[in-house]
Amino acid sequence: MSERRVCVNDFEEEARTVLPKAIYDYYRSGADQQQTLADNTAAFNRWRFLPRVLRDVSTVDLSTCLLGQPLSMPVCVGATAMQRMAHPDGETATARACQAAGTGMMLSSWATSTIEEVMSAMTSSQGNARILWLQLYIYKDRELTLSLVHRAEEAGYKAIFVTVDTPYLGRRWDDVRNRFKLPSHLSMSNFSTASLAFSESNYGNDSGLAVYVAKAIDPTLSWKDIAWLKKHTHLPVIVKGILTGEDAAQAVNHGVDGILVSNHGARQLDGVPATLDVLEEVVCAVQGRCEVYLDGGVRRGADILKALALGAKAVFIGRPVLWGLACQGEQGVSEVLELLRAELRLAMALAGCRSISEVNRSMVRKIEFTSRI
Ligand code: FNR
Ligand code: LAC
Repeated sequence: MSERRVCVNDFEEEARTVLPKAIYDYYRSGADQQQTLADNTAAFNRWRFLPRVLRDVSTVDLSTCLLGQPLSMPVCVGATAMQRMAHPDGETATARACQAAGTGMMLSSWATSTIEEVMSAMTSSQGNARILWLQLYIYKDRELTLSLVHRAEEAGYKAIFVTVDTPYLGRRWDDVRNRFKLPSHLSMSNFSTASLAFSESNYGNDSGLAVYVAKAIDPTLSWKDIAWLKKHTHLPVIVKGILTGEDAAQAVNHGVDGILVSNHGARQLDGVPATLDVLEEVVCAVQGRCEVYLDGGVRRGADILKALALGAKAVFIGRPVLWGLACQGEQGVSEVLELLRAELRLAMALAGCRSISEVNRSMVRKIEFTSRI
């Protein structure tokens, strides 16, 4: 590992210097004033560990399962669109790094590599399983939407994460200022027509992606569409973008296989809580009836441990992977994953946990705020 990159923030700092400004801005931004963006990371600092000692932590086992699938650690890669803007190998590099790390990758519907290409980038000869999940945007065109699902089934993907927080794209100021669109040599590879592949040249004065979403994505989505999706696939369906106990209970009642507590990396509605702050409420509402995961602001092993202590089965990381890709392609993503693994292992050992099953709610306490008035 490069000596200069000792934490995830170092990867971001280096990525900022190598990426074109409009691309760095797109990857980094949150919506509007970015209050939630700051809060996603700050929330982890509002919790403290209560470590147990004298427990022989000479070996610490990080392995776990997600939907019955073994993972080497409870850290997975979340969907981030258009990864070839970060590195020429894009999603295929990320997929290889995930396989080497023994973890899974959620491929964005808006990848700059195809569903099939990313699966074949993972080799079947290597020891580790090929764990890919498809993140699904539901288009106004339902046949097109189902064709993505069926391609994922054919290619051997293991689940569908349907994003439910994006009836419209959140307003990211820098993307509007930069009139963000894909560089002309790239396209959203899963679509063959220019308008659906986000490769037209004229998106006016706005964020090109916001214009694209308004044209193509279905804002009428409702719970009945979750039932529709479940009817059309044999793969597990996870809803991505739940932030309340009420919606979590609804999701369970609609038979979902998992819930990803997510505010889309703070890119949709600014002013929603940090994901860590609503995790417990969701976990309580679900009462063990499906798996619950978290994403948003996870940057350190200690963050992962706090999320697990509050009930997440696993966490997903978004931007850190883009920074790894920008710094050094597949190798950079591997370094980010191994850094988080090492940090998690150390945090667990220092907290007195020898396995994921030993992580529990009593290990963390929220810090109290006392009034200064
Ligand atoms: C995203 N996210 C996202 N989500 C999704 O469902 N489909 C997508 O295509 C994308 N694309 C995307 C691009 C970029 C640049 C970012 C930063 C995020 C949201 C993503 O899956 C995840 O919820 C957050 O990124 C998690 O927060 P952190 O780890 O980035 O703080
Ligand atoms: C975003 C979309 C791609 O957050 O989900 O930019």
